[in-house]
Amino acid sequence: TPAKTWSGRFAEPVSERVKRYTASIPFDRRLAEHDIRGSLAHAKMLARQGILSAQDLADIERGMAQIREEIARGDFPWSLDDEDVHLNIEKRLTALVGDAGKRLHTGRSRNDQVATDLRLWLRDQIDAIVEAIESLQGALLDLAETHAATPMPGFTHLQVAQPVTFGHHLMAYVEMLERDRERLRDARRRVNRLPLGAAALAGTTFPIDREFVARELGFEDVCRNSLDAVSDRDFAIEFLSAASLVMMHLSRFSEELILWMTPRFGFITLADRFCTGSSIMPQKKNPDVPELVRGKTGRVYGHLMGLLTLMKAQPLAYNKDNQEDKEPLFDAVDTVLDTLIIYAEMVGGIRVHPEAMREALRQGFATATDLADYLVKKGVPFRDAHEAVARAVREAEARGVDLAELPLEVLRGFSPLIEEDVYQVLTIEGSLAQRRHIGGTAPEAVREAIAQARARLKRA
Ligand code: ARG
Repeated sequence: TPAKTWSGRFAEPVSERVKRYTASIPFDRRLAEHDIRGSLAHAKMLARQGILSAQDLADIERGMAQIREEIARGDFPWSLDDEDVHLNIEKRLTALVGDAGKRLHTGRSRNDQVATDLRLWLRDQIDAIVEAIESLQGALLDLAETHAATPMPGFTHLQVAQPVTFGHHLMAYVEMLERDRERLRDARRRVNRLPLGAAALAGTTFPIDREFVARELGFEDVCRNSLDAVSDRDFAIEFLSAASLVMMHLSRFSEELILWMTPRFGFITLADRFCTGSSIMPQKKNPDVPELVRGKTGRVYGHLMGLLTLMKAQPLAYNKDNQEDKEPLFDAVDTVLDTLIIYAEMVGGIRVHPEAMREALRQGFATATDLADYLVKKGVPFRDAHEAVARAVREAEARGVDLAELPLEVLRGFSPLIEEDVYQVLTIEGSLAQRRHIGGTAPEAVREAIAQARARLKRA
């Protein structure tokens, strides 16, 4: 085994098993680009402060440029012997440019280095995720616009409750995603702070300029306590919690898509490219993509729990436990991004079946509340109106018809205040049209909500 960067004080090399157990290079090489960016900013600062010579800085920049190329070409000599991405790159830099490479780590530790890399990387991922949320919102808005006036049953307890429009239903998800976007953008502010300068835990004796490094790397602030800077991962946990909420929302939508696609509902059809067949049942077309979204939601929740548990009771400052933060974070980011991107495509391919939605409304007596409201407007106390309508529903059910199909004399049997104009409120269109307030399901209110959401998206 070749000597390790830190092996000067050791009497024997680590075993192969320990080497594999402690190394993070199989997964943290993903941070290479951000590690290089952080190192270049650090080196530039050291040179400005007179801690490194201009020649050293030039050598480091040249070496890093070559390392970037090697990584891009896929011929960078990654080695398990060098444990992690930081040591791999430093070792290669030294091989390429000599002493300047060995001076790079002045006033720095892998502890503040890895925290910096992770924050830089996560910041980029958050930006990509926010953008993917915006695309999904765009796809939902397009579909909502087409169906701003398409009636469907709104459910409570999964029982038909009142008519809503399909556009209104979709807009509920646009709202949820809007809060997800806000949460991620807010979390980003706390991700976007610079740990570098904290060194191992206590800061450094060199006259560093942390604010310069922060500006170079686009950080909004510096972490103000060196112990906190190297040890906390709350920024990652906060991200995972926002990511979990994104997945929670998409899992709800997935559940609905799955339900709506069953022949019993028949409200929608997903494009074939988002479904798969069965190897035994020739008739099957299964909504695999939404089912997997539902399943992968558990995976992201698991990573949130994993990181919370990783941090629980960790004493200050850095502990090797924290090396375990990466795989959950990487996997959560990949899962959320893939899910959002595939979802936007899937929403674009939804075929809607308005007749099936209307039929479900009819069978569910969805305008019963409208009839009660009608009686209240004629002076009947709401509880009495509720009772009268309940009896009317029983009658309609016994006759196998909708409320709107009961003759006027029959309806008047439940309340003499009912007149010919009742049929306007008993129709689905009448029921929808009256809910025109902000947040209501009337087609004009839905169109207004869509216009506002589009304006918000444009401002983003
Ligand atoms: N690979 C380590 C990590 O991911 C880098 C920091 C290690 N620092 C240390 N002193 N062992 O956390």
